[in-house]
Amino acid sequence: MHMRLRRSTPGLPAVAATLLLLVASLVGSAIPAAATRAAAAAATPAAPAAEPWWRHAVIYEIYPRSFQDSNGDGTGDLNGIAQRLDYLQQLGVDAIWIAPIYPSAQVDFGYDITDYDAVDPMFGTLADFDRLLGEARRRHIRVILDMVLNHTSDQHPWFLDAARSGDSRYHDFYVWTAGKLDAAGHRAPPNNWVSLFGGSAWEFVPAVGEFYYHRFYRQQPDLNWRNPEVERAMFAAMRFWLERGVAGFRLDAVTELFEDAKLRDAPPLGGTNAQGDPNLSDIYTKNLPEVHDVMRRLRAMMDTYAGERVLIGETYLANTTDLDAWYGGARHDELQLPMDTLVGLGNRLDADTFRRRLLESQTELHHSQPLLVFDNHDNVRSWDRFGDGVHDAQIARIVAALLLTAPATALLYQGQEIGQRTATPTRVEDVRDPLGIRGWPRDKGRDGERTPMQWDGSNAQAGFSTTPHTWLPVTADYRSVNVQSEAADPESLLNWYRRLIALRRNNRALREGRMVMLDTANASVLSYARVSTDGETVIVSLNMSPQPQTPSLDLAQAGLRSSHPRTLLSSPGPLPHGDAKGPVSLPPYAVWIAELR
Ligand code: NOJ
Repeated sequence: MHMRLRRSTPGLPAVAATLLLLVASLVGSAIPAAATRAAAAAATPAAPAAEPWWRHAVIYEIYPRSFQDSNGDGTGDLNGIAQRLDYLQQLGVDAIWIAPIYPSAQVDFGYDITDYDAVDPMFGTLADFDRLLGEARRRHIRVILDMVLNHTSDQHPWFLDAARSGDSRYHDFYVWTAGKLDAAGHRAPPNNWVSLFGGSAWEFVPAVGEFYYHRFYRQQPDLNWRNPEVERAMFAAMRFWLERGVAGFRLDAVTELFEDAKLRDAPPLGGTNAQGDPNLSDIYTKNLPEVHDVMRRLRAMMDTYAGERVLIGETYLANTTDLDAWYGGARHDELQLPMDTLVGLGNRLDADTFRRRLLESQTELHHSQPLLVFDNHDNVRSWDRFGDGVHDAQIARIVAALLLTAPATALLYQGQEIGQRTATPTRVEDVRDPLGIRGWPRDKGRDGERTPMQWDGSNAQAGFSTTPHTWLPVTADYRSVNVQSEAADPESLLNWYRRLIALRRNNRALREGRMVMLDTANASVLSYARVSTDGETVIVSLNMSPQPQTPSLDLAQAGLRSSHPRTLLSSPGPLPHGDAKGPVSLPPYAVWIAELR
């Protein structure tokens, strides 16, 4: 399941997030002690910390097709990622999450897996993966894999067998139904459910005389999580990677594992979505209570491995209360980092909304760790969603500052740190994402946010590849928007990210301090303090408006030691210090981060 965030209309009040894609037991044998120890060593590169490593981590998402091509075939690969580890280390990331690298039919670019225990030759070999893991570990970078539990490819041996005969031992691995007879006496799907990627969610297989369910493309049949064999098989796949030393998983579409056992019709909500299908309630296809039992067993399995392995969830939810359930509420026994604290936030850079969300994350998550995410490979980039066309560069700095100074684990997506833009295809014949091919022109797909990483100006492929035939075109602005030129410019967005990440790492208050909201009635400026247990205090003010603003921080009233603030970071340029009440004035979209001495 996922929600697609689309661009807001510059000059108009931003459009709320479009819910285009409402997409989305057994622990098995004990792990031999030696394997557990070996894996623990593998997954724990840095000295053990008092708190689990992921609590204050900066996690960096890599879309492997588009990160770095090492063999000149136009598609990124594992050796390419290894070549760029020094860059990631300098940036200051603690972990990388790599989108699926397993053998795949590549209909959904890796999210349709044909073998869970191997590497797609397009990306390299298992030996390449192990080498990458080792190289990352040397740089204190953990590796998190994407795990697709909801569905396999229709080319997976399980499904090929399941679709051959109702007697196959794998038949019950998937969700089958005979459907019903329509008015004309023809066999029809059992209900009105639609795929989040367009059309009916049911596909008829004549060989077995039944329909199978697919929440996503028809090439992605849903697994039947009511069958304990499925859980056993998928947990075994995860153990395969845990024992190699991965630090955890990002669980794809994990809210979608179960469907209503009675297959009841989904209540219509009125209107149609971008794929032209009726908008339907997802009460029977998403977030069913049974999923939490699986999550608890999965967490218990993860916890048998040393090294604080982490579960991140692709859990687009309606509100903070629903999000809390995915942590396991007060029990804290499900995912450590379900996505995410900014639920349903949409495109608006709005101080009140951010303030409310951050406060909720402090009060409604039973002290679980919030996770902040602005960008990924499924959504229009934050540069384009939040930008107003005039102050885009400054707005990108606000997004970075919020991501890295709020009390939360931070997840960023490749290219976000250099201000890569969304480059949506302009002609349907150029589209690679089937979603865009089917949905054109209402839905142009996700190619725009997946274009190759822009490394330098060394060739027309921005250093991503040596071949001009890259799987998606390199965006034309690569000559100015690239890692190399931004690294050389002290005022670049890249260096802003580097400074923020370094500050977050080295400053106790920013790392682990509690949050105190300041100036809470201010609709234009989001201000908060981070206060460590020993009283170190950092204040952050983000002017989310196109006008200059003078916040009233009134630290004494907030119970904070009121003293002269010293600027740690500010943008644009140095800002006047003001006094204990804060800066004199914040220019449009300014960021001010200061410590109290
Ligand atoms: C979410 C992934 O992020 C997206 O890219 C994919 O298409 C769907 N899940 C289906 O696996």
